[in-house]
Amino acid sequence: MTTSSAHILEMSGITKAFPGVLALDNANLSVQAGHIHGLVGENGAGKSTIIKVLAGVYRRDSGQIIIDGKAMAEVTPALVHAAGLRFIHQELHLVPHFTVAESVFMGQEQQGWFGIKSRAMNEAAERFLEETLNAEIRGRTLVRDLGIAHRKLVQIARALIDNQARVVVFDEPTAPLASAEIDQLFDAIARLKAHGISMIYVSHYLGEITSICDRVAVFRNGRDVGVIDDIGLRDSGRMINMMVGRDIADFYPVKNHAPSEPLLTIEGLADRKHFSDINLEIKRGEIVGLAGLIGSGREELVDTIYGLRRAATGRMLLDGKPLTLKSPADAVKHGIVLVPRDRRQDGLVLDMAVADNINLASLQDVARAFLIDRAAAVKRAESVADRLDVRPHNVGAISRLLSGGNQQKVVLARWLVTGSRLFILDEPTVGVDVGAKVEIYRLIEKLAGEGAAVFVSSSDPNELLGLCDRILVLLRGTIIADVDTATTSLDQLIALTTGGELQHGATA
Ligand SMILES: Nc1ncnc2c1ncn2[C@@H]1O[C@H](COP(=O)(O)OP(=O)(O)O)[C@@H](O)[C@H]1O
Ligand SMILES: [Mg+2]
Repeated sequence: MTTSSAHILEMSGITKAFPGVLALDNANLSVQAGHIHGLVGENGAGKSTIIKVLAGVYRRDSGQIIIDGKAMAEVTPALVHAAGLRFIHQELHLVPHFTVAESVFMGQEQQGWFGIKSRAMNEAAERFLEETLNAEIRGRTLVRDLGIAHRKLVQIARALIDNQARVVVFDEPTAPLASAEIDQLFDAIARLKAHGISMIYVSHYLGEITSICDRVAVFRNGRDVGVIDDIGLRDSGRMINMMVGRDIADFYPVKNHAPSEPLLTIEGLADRKHFSDINLEIKRGEIVGLAGLIGSGREELVDTIYGLRRAATGRMLLDGKPLTLKSPADAVKHGIVLVPRDRRQDGLVLDMAVADNINLASLQDVARAFLIDRAAAVKRAESVADRLDVRPHNVGAISRLLSGGNQQKVVLARWLVTGSRLFILDEPTVGVDVGAKVEIYRLIEKLAGEGAAVFVSSSDPNELLGLCDRILVLLRGTIIADVDTATTSLDQLIALTTGGELQHGATA
């Protein structure tokens, strides 16, 4: 295998397996000197994994890594650092009780900063943040007192502070940033490029990729499936086609429900930071989806609807009457089922028996059942668990011992015993296997068929298209589209959520 001198970096045939997952399957990635090389792909495509293999965070199972024409037998964080590679990983890795200046200069002790007066260090950090990122952050502020956007900027400053970077790798850097901060970052990236520094830029936002990258590689299922040279605004459609590959068929239930009159209305909901002016309506017998990338405000919006966060303005109406949810019990009283994102944490009492978890939602009934008729409660749980095929077939089993998919079914089984009319589901199938997913989709369809209103927030565009009647698309805190799933393609939905432009004729 020969290296072109124009390549500052070449990774070829990289394979990396985690238990049960082949994260990288013979993947290639090469970067030309002075270029900004984009890396895109759906969630789980292997983008972060290949970056971490390059960083020496993960050890590759096989494959070759060539930096500056030199094959690296061993790849460790120290070696790649010495070769001038700098990483801004997706996760922050900052110490909360360090100051901004200490964080920026962490690891620079050998450069003479060790033991230096903290005032000088503070000023140097402030100057660097200002000059490089146009960010005004005080050097003595503690990291834990910074908002997430400022933490990201500190992380970036730390990677660049020694002025020795030759290749800078950004993994989804803009996710926590607002648009003004994104502009600051892009200015910094343009300056780095002007200094001849090469970059790898990983992002979900196709609009960002087309505006700053020279070239882009598309990953799918752990492989590089294509490269686009001279990428321009018109290439979003091509990228999307490569990212998605093909559609999944008859995984989703046949839509057999009919929307009737409005049940939930949300008017002018805003929290001043993550989302603004949210208006929506969900009818009985309707399944409405909410799409949006990490950082779009989707999580915060759902948490606000759940009553876990406060809104600054706006209101929710149930059946035309003002509604405030202060607790899960409040929701149950109104006939609302909230299924949280992290069910292991919020949804299940792991040390409780399956039957008790199933009965947990219908509070009044449960009290009665526990005190008076435990046998009836167990029987009811058994019949519901049977319908969902919860395994093992023993509702006396402790919930902790069940697989993730079966734990998920237990949470869902509760819905069936409550007779609720509104279901708000946050990532209902995250972490469950394919078989359990199909059952969850059938159950959601069934609930809508029985006249319930269902609101599904999901990071999986296939799931939203397969399940919902309409999808609301959240981009940087605002609903930018309300699409009918009957007439929307996967490409179109991804283009909307990523802020990319779709070419005419690029739809699947
Ligand atoms: N540390 C890990 N342990 C187990 N599985 C992992 C780990 N990191 C990533 N994965 C899995 O590897 C696949 C690729 O993940 P990742 O590289 O993070 O994707 P991307 O960054 O493109 O969203 C996913 O299926 C993910 O669940
Ligand atoms: Mg990632």
